[in-house]
Amino acid sequence: VQIQSFAPGRVNIIGEHTDYCQGFALPMAIDLGVTLRGKSTDAHFELTTDADASHVRFQRGTVLESGWGRYVSVLAQECGARFGISGALHADLPVGSGLSSSAALGICLAQIWHPQLETLELAELAQRSETVATGVQCGLMDQLASAGGQEGHALLIDFSSLAVRPISISEDIAWWVLHSGQQRQLEHSGYGQRRAEVEQVLGMIGSFRDASIADIARLPALALRRRARHVITENQRVLAMVDALAHNHWTTAGQLLNESHQSLRDDFEVSTPTIDELWTELNAHPKVYGARLTGAGFGGCLVAMTEPDADLSNWGADRWRVHPSRGAWVEFS
Ligand code: GLA
Repeated sequence: VQIQSFAPGRVNIIGEHTDYCQGFALPMAIDLGVTLRGKSTDAHFELTTDADASHVRFQRGTVLESGWGRYVSVLAQECGARFGISGALHADLPVGSGLSSSAALGICLAQIWHPQLETLELAELAQRSETVATGVQCGLMDQLASAGGQEGHALLIDFSSLAVRPISISEDIAWWVLHSGQQRQLEHSGYGQRRAEVEQVLGMIGSFRDASIADIARLPALALRRRARHVITENQRVLAMVDALAHNHWTTAGQLLNESHQSLRDDFEVSTPTIDELWTELNAHPKVYGARLTGAGFGGCLVAMTEPDADLSNWGADRWRVHPSRGAWVEFS
């Protein structure tokens, strides 16, 4: 059987480090992603990738020790793969940049074995595989956005109920993703530490959604008070953003992006000097409404909301003008 499978990356408009604490986020699937073209086999896997011109080979039922082959072999295992795959992976999504290349790869493969699964179940399957393969307790945002994206829309996700609401994105604004030039890998970043800090706070205050800024004054350490303040204010910014987008209030929307960046920089402490420098320069651009670091941080990309005719094609170490796009799809022939 011939297989063609595609899963997009995502850019998170706003709502960073809120998915693993039952908050709100507003990601959108983008027109960059991971494509697999190949065919099913009985039991062997043979995959090439143009991301780094490497390949992996293994038999169904075995799990590789390291590299992206480990992730693929764990996916096959976690998905209960009933057949192997021989094919080529093509990624036009930059790897390790905060645009969810790993979630896209996970969804791209998982849906081959489980084309009938609902978005949420597919996302959970890919998330579980990523955690088993890398040890990173990532949230569910990236997989949900990749699997469930809708053309022309971002997704408002409520991580306490897992309800997803499509939010129309106007064509009167444009979205640019700019690479800082700093690569990062979640497993070698402070992601796990941030997550542990947030869980410590949750143990003390119960829920970020019900907590007020006054509640966090009681937290015993400055770092914890800062982390909590980020999550509480970021949740509020996501809802304010949805409102600003619905009313074409672009200046307000831009300010919310900037406030999110400042909060990630000062309170959540996941930005870097290189990213902050780019952010400051972006804010001096007359056609930029606002910008912020997108994804987990510690390197990677910024997202900028601009006037439609803004030209940022010389900005950053690399850059893409992205469009809100449909989610993952798979075809068999
Ligand atoms: C990574 C994780 C997501 C989310 C973001 C931060 O992309 O995979 O689940 O936690 O970081 O918002």
